[in-house]
Amino acid sequence: MKKTVFITGVSRGLGRALAAAYLDDGCAVYGCSRSGCDLADAHPGRYHDKALDLSDSGGGPAALAEWLCSGPGFDLAILNAGILPEIRDIKDTPLESLRETMEINLWSNKWVLDALLAMPRKPGHIVAISSGAAVSGSRGWNGYALSKAALNMLVRLYAAEEPEVHFTAFAPGLIDTAMQDYLCGIEDDAGFETVRRLKQARHTPDMPKPEEAARKITAVLDTLPRTSESGAFVDIRKMETYETSQPSLSQKKTKRKLTQNDPRKHSPGFRPSR
Ligand SMILES: NC(=O)c1ccc[n+]([C@@H]2O[C@H](COP(=O)([O-])OP(=O)(O)OC[C@H]3O[C@@H](n4cnc5c(N)ncnc54)[C@H](OP(=O)(O)O)[C@@H]3O)[C@@H](O)[C@H]2O)c1
Repeated sequence: MKKTVFITGVSRGLGRALAAAYLDDGCAVYGCSRSGCDLADAHPGRYHDKALDLSDSGGGPAALAEWLCSGPGFDLAILNAGILPEIRDIKDTPLESLRETMEINLWSNKWVLDALLAMPRKPGHIVAISSGAAVSGSRGWNGYALSKAALNMLVRLYAAEEPEVHFTAFAPGLIDTAMQDYLCGIEDDAGFETVRRLKQARHTPDMPKPEEAARKITAVLDTLPRTSESGAFVDIRKMETYETSQPSLSQKKTKRKLTQNDPRKHSPGFRPSR
């Protein structure tokens, strides 16, 4: 039975590529964004689009809940929508900019999660698209880093409350999207080391196009309910090592001594700790 998938931020970039990948795989996809997505033409009856502004915490929750009620419930929900504010030092970042970033990248995910978890059939796996910036603390990433770090904790808190749902905060690696158009346009002399590294990564395998990234990500997301702790922060670039930046105690124990018949020992990509 093919999956039914909910995705936010499907109008372009990673979100649109993920929606297209699941549709190509025969799944049904429910997607939302402000400017809409054209995938319904190619996938009539299997792609369902909703125009929704995630900055509208006033009317958004009710509009989303009403739309979700008409749906079948989801096997997988991907909270992908996000914004990247101007790269600058936090001391130069106005509170208004920080508030706007937190509104989309964090608070909207709170009311979207509440709407998903209020459905008669809760999603089996909920993935919030985070970032390495959530843990790196690199200079210049101001509200973006704050919002993704808080999103990681939001996911952990929901995981503690909802044991029957698997939660993941997922860093998808670098992807060549509109966000990178802005980042790679920043002057070198702006003094932000990570921006220089992003420019070097562009047009290399380290920064794939959304379609290629989506193919890898859909395969990895499939394994996570078996291979990671619910609520964990998982960075795709660190998957092999199973090291997550916030490994839970049980993960460390598991890594140290997996029993003979532990199913994870047979999961794809398992690496016995050296
Ligand atoms: N690109 C990377 O290298 C990278 C790396 C790590 C993490 N990420 C994360 O991956 C996710 C997708 O990023 P991307 O690179 O694909 O960005 P993108 O190309 O800028 O796409 C962002 C998506 O979010 C939607 N969105 C933004 N504001 C919204 C709002 N107020 N209401 C509803 N939808 C809204 C946009 O749709 P509308 O404008 O139509 O509303 C769009 O579909 C983000 O969470 C980002 O932080 C990206």
